[in-house]
Amino acid sequence: MQSYPVEKRLSDIGPFDSRAGTYALAALHMACFPDAWNAAAISALLVKPGTLAYAHEDGFVLARVAGNEAEILTLAVAPAARGRGLGRALLQAVITKAAAMGANSMFLEVGVDNPAAMSLYAGLGFSTVGTRKAYYNGRDALVLRLSLPAKFA
Ligand SMILES: CC(C)(COP(=O)(O)OP(=O)(O)OC[C@H]1O[C@@H](n2cnc3c(N)ncnc32)[C@H](O)[C@@H]1OP(=O)(O)O)[C@@H](O)C(=O)NCCC(=O)NCCS
Repeated sequence: MQSYPVEKRLSDIGPFDSRAGTYALAALHMACFPDAWNAAAISALLVKPGTLAYAHEDGFVLARVAGNEAEILTLAVAPAARGRGLGRALLQAVITKAAAMGANSMFLEVGVDNPAAMSLYAGLGFSTVGTRKAYYNGRDALVLRLSLPAKFA
């Protein structure tokens, strides 16, 4: 893996402080998804009990913990910052926190046409447990699951 530029270190990842506002997160989401969430939609998720958010200048992840189950809601890394370990680091942060909150499984959906994300999730130990037909605007998605606490390679 390439090393991350010194001025934008992976260690700059931290829990998102909602006082910082959600416009930067919405801008990142817009750079990553055709059907992006706006700032109001992201804010609405952040105020729900059990929502976790980890952010970096170039990416963020949202997850939800309910009882002993956790779910990745979204993961976005700016196109110019990809391939440097940021997506993996964001996921590791939120997976570790979800396990600390008592979750013993984490789930997510990923489009079958998203090999980058599938490779990222497989590398962290997620495995396929189901399929959702026409989940993303007609495109199928796989349901992935990871047992927590996770052992990262
Ligand atoms: C998927 C995404 C979050 C990956 O972020 P990233 O910071 O580039 O990922 P990382 O650099 O941490 O890569 C970790 C692993 O993911 C996989 N991966 C990342 N980009 C890849 C690519 N273009 N092709 C294949 N595998 C890729 C590799 O297994 C990689 O491990 P390696 O570096 O040891 O080979 C990013 O591409 C993205 O934001 N995409 C658009 C939004 C999206 O699809 N989100 C997920 C929805 S389920």
